[in-house]
Amino acid sequence: MNVSDEVTVPPDRTDERTPGERVVEPSRATERGREPVLSLRGIRKRFGAVEALSDASLDVNAGEVVALVGDNGAGKSTMIKVIAGVNPADAGEVRWQGRPVHIGKPGDATTLGIATVYQDLALCDNLDVVANLFLGNEIQHRTVLDEIAMEKAASNLLQTLSVRIPSVRTPVATLSGGQRQSVAIARSLLGEPKVVLLDEPTAALGVAQTAQVLDLIERLRDRGLGVVLISHNLADVRAVADRVAVLRLGRMVGDYALSDTTQEQIVEAITGASDNVVVRRQERQHGDGRSTPFDSRPDSAMPEEPS
Ligand SMILES: Nc1ncnc2c1ncn2[C@@H]1O[C@H](COP(=O)(O)OP(=O)(O)OP(=O)(O)O)[C@@H](O)[C@H]1O
Ligand SMILES: [Mg+2]
Repeated sequence: MNVSDEVTVPPDRTDERTPGERVVEPSRATERGREPVLSLRGIRKRFGAVEALSDASLDVNAGEVVALVGDNGAGKSTMIKVIAGVNPADAGEVRWQGRPVHIGKPGDATTLGIATVYQDLALCDNLDVVANLFLGNEIQHRTVLDEIAMEKAASNLLQTLSVRIPSVRTPVATLSGGQRQSVAIARSLLGEPKVVLLDEPTAALGVAQTAQVLDLIERLRDRGLGVVLISHNLADVRAVADRVAVLRLGRMVGDYALSDTTQEQIVEAITGASDNVVVRRQERQHGDGRSTPFDSRPDSAMPEEPS
């Protein structure tokens, strides 16, 4: 394994927090008494003058969907790229199944069992579904590609995940957005990961295609995978997530069990204010934007800008 046991302990940044700011450290022993499969603490990542992550923490349990939410620029994609080894952290502690590890490059994450599906999907439009699934991981018989074995494996994988496409020999260019997203997620599962990171998998999808992808995310959870789902859409979050972790300005400011959290609390954590643009809009529309249960709101799109 090319993953070293190096641990970097971050300096204490307590004195740098603004007065009254609450920075959330999820407890490693979860309510179910399990050790998280993936645990991050005090993660820092700087791009020149921009401190994208200044003290970020996250726990991911097996068989759980964690939604990672926050406004534009909050640091969500950076967090995913730190975990995926694409942009390694400057400081912080990463534990995998309780063991300190260092993720310094994408290969380290893959070796541990972390798969990532980026928003652009990186599918090859001119190739069919089989070729896309096995791109770079082709099954060969001696020096010849074993097309039959790959076709069979592709069909089995998609069937197991209940992904419906016309044929595994269909060029990816002809698939719908939801089907393409499903193929990209299925491809990430070929290495049998334990954690899957999904960066805005439903961002460009219509209602039916979104439902298809959310179904697939539930199936990943049912297979015992830990899923990190970045989404700007609270309806998607509400539909599949067990927990919501909120990033604001590079810090983890909320870690909520979805079952006992209102939408108000989530929006407040995202914007950093109880008097925010979303509440003011609700008050204009309904006369009262308060005390709305998280799971009873028909339109839960995220605010596009903080107050
Ligand atoms: N490669 C990079 N070089 C320089 N700055 C970067 C880089 N990647 C991210 N940043 C900066 O880090 C901050 C966090 O960016 P990030 O992409 O993580 O936000 P995000 O929460 O994913 O936002 P969005 O919801 O818009 O996707 C931003 O200020 C961004 O400009
Ligand atoms: Mg992003």
